[in-house]
Parts: sequence; C-alpha cells; structure tokens
Amino acid sequence: MAKILVTGGLGFIGSHTVVELQNEGFDVVIIDDLSNSSIEVLSGITSITGTAPIFEQIDLKEKDKVQSFFKKHQDLQGIIHFAASKAVGESVENPLLYYENNINTLIYLLKEIQNMNAANFIFSSSCTVYGQASTLPITENAPVMKAESPYGNTKQIGEEIIEDSCRVYHNINAISLRYFNPIGAHKSAKIGELPIGIPQNLVPFITQTASGVREQLSVFGDDYPTPDGTCIRDYIHVVDLARAHVIALKRLMNKTNPSNYEIFNVGTGTGSSVLEVIRSFERVTDQKLNYKIADRRSGDVIAAYADTTKANDVLGWKAQHTLDDAMRAAWTWEQQLRKNN
Ligand SMILES: NC(=O)c1ccc[n+]([C@@H]2O[C@H](COP(=O)([O-])OP(=O)(O)OC[C@H]3O[C@@H](n4cnc5c(N)ncnc54)[C@H](O)[C@@H]3O)[C@@H](O)[C@H]2O)c1
Repeated sequence: MAKILVTGGLGFIGSHTVVELQNEGFDVVIIDDLSNSSIEVLSGITSITGTAPIFEQIDLKEKDKVQSFFKKHQDLQGIIHFAASKAVGESVENPLLYYENNINTLIYLLKEIQNMNAANFIFSSSCTVYGQASTLPITENAPVMKAESPYGNTKQIGEEIIEDSCRVYHNINAISLRYFNPIGAHKSAKIGELPIGIPQNLVPFITQTASGVREQLSVFGDDYPTPDGTCIRDYIHVVDLARAHVIALKRLMNKTNPSNYEIFNVGTGTGSSVLEVIRSFERVTDQKLNYKIADRRSGDVIAAYADTTKANDVLGWKAQHTLDDAMRAAWTWEQQLRKNN
C-alpha cells in the first residue's frame, strides 16, 4: 500500500480526498494544524472508510517540524498539498499572514521532496488565477491575470515556485489542479464544509440561511451581463474534485505524465448563476430561501467556468455529480451539523 501525505487533510477538500484515497487502498498520513478544521473530522473519515489515517498535528510554518516529519516518514510515495489559508477578504486585511502560510509552507515541503525518490506532488490551485477571463469556457491556456487579492496571488506564486522547481529538480513530478467552485459534502453526511464564522462562499451561506443560522442571503448584483443578471460560476461536487486528486496522483505514480509539471482545470464545464443555485437548492429541499438582491460586491468576476477537455481527455476524469446532487448533499450535511450543535 503506497503511503501518501495529505496536508490540510482535515479540511473540506482534504478530508474528502483522504476518503477517496483510502477507498482506493492508499495508506494516508494527514498533517493539519487544526487552524481551520476540527479533530472530529478524523472520526468522520474513519467511520466512512473503517480505517483511521495517521494524523500528525503540525503547523507547516514550523520548518524544523516539517523536516523531522520527513525524516520519520521516508517511505512516502506522494504528497497532496491542501494546507493553506483561503479567506480572500482576510488576505486583503492580513497579507503577510497569507504569504507566510501559503508560500513558506510550500517551500518547506518542496525542500524536503526535492531529495525524495518518489516526489509526486499535487498542488491545490484555483481558477482565481484567471481573473475575468476574456473567453469562456476557460482553458488552461488562458492568461494568468494580475491577482485580485493576496490569497489569489499566493496561488499564482505557488504555481510559479513549483514550475521553477520542476525545471531543475527533475525527480519532482508535480500537477497543479485549478479548482473551480467546490461545494457539497460526502453522501454519508459524516464530513463536509465547516465554515468558521460567516461563510465566504455561496452554498454554505444558503444552507445556513435555510437552517436559521443566518437571517437572509444577499445576492450581490442582478445587473451583470448574464442571462439572469447574477454572477456565474462552475460549481463542482467536492467528491468529484477529490477523485480528480486520486487520478492525478496515479498519473504521477505510474509515470504516465509526459512532462514533470502539468496543470489541469477541475470543474464541471457548466456555469450556473447565483439564482440557478438558489433554485436548485429550493427544488431539492422543497423550501423557499429567504434572499434579497443587494449591490454588486467589488472584485467579483462576472462569469467563470471551466473548459474541462484537458482533464477529461488527458487525465480521464469527468465530474459525475450534478448541481442538484451537490445541493442535496450540502443540505443533508447542514442538517447533520445542526443536529450535533
Ligand atoms: N474551497 C475552495 O473554494 C477552494 C477553491 C480553490 C482552491 N482551494 C484551495 O484548496 C485547498 C483546500 O481548501 P479547503 O476549502 O479544503 O480549505 P480548508 O480551510 O477547509 O482546509 C485547509 C486545511 O489546512 C489546514 N492548514 C492551514 N494552514 C496550515 C498549516 N500552516 N499547517 C498545517 N495545516 C494547515 C487547516 O486547518 C485546514 O484543515 C487550499 O489550498 C485552498 O486554497 C480551495
């Protein structure tokens, strides 16, 4: 059984990826500092798969701890690096925290894997690197635009650091996955998204409004040049996204990658407007959502959705779940959360 390190493995996308890795027979070691997650996620993962992953509570900003971790686990066959801070607004308020947490941690990891035989590395990047792309759907060849926030910039810089490293350290095999908008939860409702404080993303805000945690959802702008005037995004079920990591990892482990650094979009290829997401939620839960139309929010791109041809044809991966599936799962998870709290 190949042993894989998943950093940020107790977070939203990381936890679902750990489940998919374990389901495929991988041995998983998680590093997480619990800065944006809860130790209970470990029990959630274990109760889904029947196997407890190894867990090390380490802050990846502590370089000496990263070094000792790699000394202890010399048999790693791959690393999936999710750990990062991800709140766009907070990154504007506190840029150095974001540069330190998202860049230093990446460098410390790369310095360790630079000496490994099986240096297979998957990086969590984001469609934010495209900004408002001039052509839709967005292919991987679309230009990277000046980042709108320090968070977005950490993803661009992160990709550049990996690309530069791959150019000289030929043992490193890396893939950056540019996620579109991950939503949903595991169908067991044992793991899902755990937003701390006011959710930054649409779907947890919808489910929290429906469950009474928030009074009302604001839809920021209905006068954009889109069919219904609201912004359009590509919402991808987190389990589909998790599976993309397993497939990308196997590509590196099987050495089927023609170049030691590759980039793939991970989305559904379909754009959905904010109002379509609300309608989907109302349809699958059979209830009305309390929302109002508010002013546009600065920095929001009008529309972004992926051209997934490369991931479909080269990785052999395709999203399986619909928006309705994801909304149903997000709602079941929200109800489970409320039951526990
Ligand atoms: N969720 C999204 O919408 C989205 C979109 C595009 C890209 N991404 C990227 O995907 C990755 C995972 O996102 P997520 O939504 O699962 O976020 P998350 O916050 O749920 O998970 C990140 C995990 O990393 C941990 N972590 C953060 N800093 C750490 C450190 N210094 N040491 C150890 N652990 C640390 C946190 O405790 C958390 O459990 C991030 O890199 C994020 O930037 C997320």
